[in-house]
Amino acid sequence: MAKVKFKIPVKCGEKFELSVEDIASSGDGISHYKGYTLFVPQTVKGDMVFVEVIKTTPRFGVTRLIKLITHSADRTEPECPIYFECGGCQLQHIKYDEQMEFKKKAVKDSLERIGKIKLEFKPEIIPARQPFFYRNKGIFSLKRTRKGLKVGFFAKGTHNVVDIKDCPVLLEPINKIKEAIRRSIENKNVSVYNELHHKGFLRSLIIRQSAKTKEILIGLVTTEGNFDSSVIQDIAEINNTLKGNYKIVGIVQNINSLKTNIILGTENRLLWGRDYLNESLGGINYQLSLTSFFQINPYQTETLLKTVEEMLTGVKGTILDTYSGIGSISLYLAKNSVSPIIGIEENEVAIEDAKKSAERNGIKNCSFLAGTTEKHLKNFEGSSDTKAIILDPPRKGCSEEVLNSVLKIKPERIVYVSCNPSTLSRDLNKLCQEVYCIKDVKVIDMFPQTVHMETVVLLEKREINKKIGR
Ligand SMILES: C[S@@+](CC[C@H](N)C(=O)[O-])C[C@H]1O[C@@H](n2cnc3c(N)ncnc32)[C@H](O)[C@@H]1O
Repeated sequence: MAKVKFKIPVKCGEKFELSVEDIASSGDGISHYKGYTLFVPQTVKGDMVFVEVIKTTPRFGVTRLIKLITHSADRTEPECPIYFECGGCQLQHIKYDEQMEFKKKAVKDSLERIGKIKLEFKPEIIPARQPFFYRNKGIFSLKRTRKGLKVGFFAKGTHNVVDIKDCPVLLEPINKIKEAIRRSIENKNVSVYNELHHKGFLRSLIIRQSAKTKEILIGLVTTEGNFDSSVIQDIAEINNTLKGNYKIVGIVQNINSLKTNIILGTENRLLWGRDYLNESLGGINYQLSLTSFFQINPYQTETLLKTVEEMLTGVKGTILDTYSGIGSISLYLAKNSVSPIIGIEENEVAIEDAKKSAERNGIKNCSFLAGTTEKHLKNFEGSSDTKAIILDPPRKGCSEEVLNSVLKIKPERIVYVSCNPSTLSRDLNKLCQEVYCIKDVKVIDMFPQTVHMETVVLLEKREINKKIGR
């Protein structure tokens, strides 16, 4: 039988009133008009709005907010004056409590829809104590325009740079240092990369800071070439103007000559000072290089570390910490445990950081393997020593190969740390088919004001525990 074609009930340019019913995973409001889904950016559940349709597709349409008719009680004034232009945050116009409800629901819905997992308990959400001024790394794009140099973030869904002076989610010194570097780039007329023409030198500016040690590392991502030494001198001299023991400890040039959206290239050159900063969290002193991964919210990272530790309480035997980065989880666990802990990480710079940190903290029961999780997990397949595996993959989640190895190793417990509920749910669906059940789910708000969240899930083998949540 031929499919009946769904007739889109609206046309681009049409204007009407809508009530906003929910918030989509993108942070946009969701509404319906004659059964057709419409997204309404910059709105909150409970708003009454007047909109114009700007895009239609067979499944949904997109509107532009013309007027807010009545405000939802969940709405709040954004801290950032350019919030609605900048694509960095998506939830600043929503009260923080409601942001928490949104995140809790996002994880639950994703587990149900993608993972086919019905939890028999409510996931706990751990809000941030500091919902602003928490981010320890700023990655700024640059653009020269007729009106001057723009240094900021991309507008939502575009590569248009929105100039920003004071970003209220960044640790405060990062804003000040960025402005001082902006002045140097302008005064010294440094060539700035033009993405469209793939020409120019300075592509991005990275400022990474430790909230605890107050050390700051500067990254200058460029195409091939050299800086005038006076530019580097200028940046180093920013130290003379910093108050409160903040200190730039190094300036690193990262070379990326490819025509790509990926920020970092593979080659690093030390231009001044040292090529890492010292970070201190949970009683461990970590070495952190420019290109190594590190959680961006130091306050909530301590909560994350404690959560993983609690979930692994009582494990006796080897713990594999896969996708281990600079060993933030491995070293923290090793400090309070006698179990052998093995970190696996493909980024060799991060592995070097991890090994140095193990040495400087006098940790002997923790070792690190450089290479992919896919490659190394295979070697653990046939041995019964591994009692727990931590999975902390990037946004794309674990590969089939990794999940198959985990199911062959069959550790007593798995702790899955994820920044993407969709891939987490996909992977849990596979792990929970026969062997594992979900024992605990905690959502940690690592990224206040944005749609992102960190989820930590404890899985146990079914024969050990009665089935809870598939
Ligand atoms: C989300 S980060 C987690 C890092 C660390 N667990 C932490 O909490 O700081 C993911 C890490 O996995 C690494 N990675 C990505 N794909 C990998 C793979 N196939 N095998 C091993 N490491 C990988 C990245 O370099 C990154 O350091």
